Amino acid sequence: MNNKKTALVTGGNRGIGLEICRQLAEKDMDVILCARDAKTGKSAVEQLKKNGYTVHFFKLEVTSDKDRKLLKKFIEKDLGKIDILVNNAGISIDRGKFGYEIEMETFVKTMETNVYGPLALSQLVIPFMKKNKFGRIVNISSGMGAIDSLYKGYLSYRVSKTCLNAMTIILADELRGTNILVNAADPGWVKTEMGGPSAPRSVEKGAETAVFLAQLPDKGPSGKFFRDKLVVPW
Ligand SMILES: NC(=O)c1ccc[n+]([C@@H]2O[C@H](COP(=O)([O-])OP(=O)(O)OC[C@H]3O[C@@H](n4cnc5c(N)ncnc54)[C@H](OP(=O)(O)O)[C@@H]3O)[C@@H](O)[C@H]2O)c1
Repeated sequence: MNNKKTALVTGGNRGIGLEICRQLAEKDMDVILCARDAKTGKSAVEQLKKNGYTVHFFKLEVTSDKDRKLLKKFIEKDLGKIDILVNNAGISIDRGKFGYEIEMETFVKTMETNVYGPLALSQLVIPFMKKNKFGRIVNISSGMGAIDSLYKGYLSYRVSKTCLNAMTIILADELRGTNILVNAADPGWVKTEMGGPSAPRSVEKGAETAVFLAQLPDKGPSGKFFRDKLVVPW
């Protein structure tokens, strides 16, 4: 079996996800860059390969049962293991409407992408991690989901990230003693398609905490919320 760590990143074709892939590859990991769109995913992989990084593409729509089944086969047949899962793919589609105005479809789609996808993928990789007695799961959350800073607007997005945080705490506790560490990262307000051009942070800075959590040593923290590599309140 490959001695290098194998890391899988969802939504790796652009934004923070792409930069997480680059930084993990820079740490000499085998990176599986996942994207729902094969064209943009493959082109991101080619770009990274040109710069000397070891990166592979896998087509993954995080809400698709079919794609997840294919991913399981890919891990079984081609990889043999998964050491790191970064649940990065996410959407924010409330579009300035209040929670009492949004279509239910907006809420459901947000939950499917930002919560159900990460849970299903965690369920998929945990048996491999258990077998290997090693695992790091990093959930890319947001300060907008922190309970003590909830306020009006972006109801679907905020609730989805609060749920992702709750899931992080519960899975971490269930996995205590297994050397599978589960944590959440708040990247801050980052200049991406989601963050917009006014965001003060670069993707490099936005990816930094996730990459730090992906490399936690054995007996490292689990079930915590991090920003700038420091524990912050839920
Ligand atoms: N930017 C910020 O200020 C900020 C702040 C806090 C937290 N975050 C979180 O950081 C993460 C990355 O955000 P970002 O700013 O990089 O956003 P982004 O530029 O909008 O990128 C989002 C990524 O997620 C992918 N994606 C969305 N839905 C998907 C699905 N159903 N299946 C697979 N991939 C899917 C997108 O793929 P396509 O290209 O195919 O659409 C894209 O690769 C998100 O979880 C976000 O909530 C961002």
